[in-house]
Amino acid sequence: MPLFTPRVFSGIQPSGGLTLGNYLGAITKFVDWQAKGTHATIFCMVDLHAITVPQDPAALRRNTRELCAGFLASGIDPERSILINQSQVPEHAQLAWIFNCVARMGWMGRMTQWKDKSGKNAEAASLGLFAYPALMAADILVYHATHVPVGEDQKQHIELTRDIAAKFNHDYGVDFFPMTEPVIEGAATRVMSLRDGTRKMSKSDPVDGSRINLTDDADTIAKKFRKAKTDPDPLPGEAGALETRPDVRNLVNIYAALSGRDVDAVLREKAGGQLGHFKQDLADLAVAKLAPISTEMARLMDDPAEIDRILARGAERARAITVPILEKTYEIVGMVR
Ligand code: TYM
Repeated sequence: MPLFTPRVFSGIQPSGGLTLGNYLGAITKFVDWQAKGTHATIFCMVDLHAITVPQDPAALRRNTRELCAGFLASGIDPERSILINQSQVPEHAQLAWIFNCVARMGWMGRMTQWKDKSGKNAEAASLGLFAYPALMAADILVYHATHVPVGEDQKQHIELTRDIAAKFNHDYGVDFFPMTEPVIEGAATRVMSLRDGTRKMSKSDPVDGSRINLTDDADTIAKKFRKAKTDPDPLPGEAGALETRPDVRNLVNIYAALSGRDVDAVLREKAGGQLGHFKQDLADLAVAKLAPISTEMARLMDDPAEIDRILARGAERARAITVPILEKTYEIVGMVR
C-alpha cells in the first residue's frame, strides 16, 4: 500500500435540525480532530444524500445553511478545516457513479439503514436511497480520506466503503484507494431517544420530546430531560449495573460526554443519587454547553451571504484535492480524457 496523506473526512445530512446525537457523536469529535492538527480535516453537508427521501427545496436550503452555522458555532474553523456543501463539489457525485458500477446490489441490500428506511415498501423507495452508501464511499474516497469520525450507526457504511475501495483496487490492479478507518470513540457514540433508551435519538423521530435539538432554548432542554423516561431506582456506583437500564444509561452517557469525563468517574461521584436530581444537573450542564452554540447559530443565520461565501471558498479548496483524484480514477477506469 502506498502512504496516504493523513486526512479526516466526515459528513452530516441537512435533513432537519442538528440533534444532541449529531453534536456528541460527530461534531465534538470533528472539533477534536481539528484541534489535534495531525490530519487535514474536511467536513461536509451532504445535501445530495438528503434528497434520497423527499425534501422541500426551501427547507433544504435553509437546513443546509443552518447546518453550516452549527459547524461554525461548535468550533469548526473554515480556515483550519475545509467546510463544504456536497453538491458544490461535483466530483463526489461523479465518483459515486463509478462506485455504483463497482458495488454489488447484494452489498447494498444488506445495509441496515436501507432496510430501516425503505421499510416494508422497498419498491417505492428511491434508487438514490438504495445507492446511498456508494455516494458516501465517494465522499470519503474522493479525498483519499484515511480516517472517518462517526457515530455507531454509520459503521456498516464505512465497512462498505472499505469493500468498495478493495474491489476497485483489485479489479483494476492498483493500490489507488486507501482502506479508510472508522473512528468511533467516547461515551456518546450512540445517543438514544429520551423516550425510549433502546432507540437511537434521531432528527426524523416524529416525537420532538425524544431528542434535544441544538436550537432548543434552555426551558425546552430542561423540560425534555425532566420528562425523559427513567426508572425509580437511584444511580448505581458502576457502569455494569446500567446494562439492564438503557434509559438511565443513556442519560449517564450524555452527562459523561458533555462533561468530558468517563462514565465510571461520573458514577463514582453520583452513586446513590436520585434520578430527579441527576436530570436537573444534566439539564444545567446541557444548557451551559449548548446555549452559546444556539445563540451563535442564530447570529450566523442572520447573514446567509457570509455562510454562502464560506461554502464557496470551501468548495474551491476541496476541488484542489478532488479534481486530480477523480481524473486519475477516470484514467484508471479507461475513460478518454
Ligand atoms: P447523519 O446525518 O444521520 O448523522 C451525522 C453524524 O451524527 C452521528 N449521529 C449520532 N451519533 C450518536 N448518537 C446518535 N443518536 C446519532 N445520530 C447521528 C452519525 O453517526 C454521523 O456521524 N450517512 C451519514 C452522512 C454521511 C457521511 C459521509 C458520514 C454522508 N457521507 C461520509 C461520514 C462520511 C448520515 O446520514 O449521518
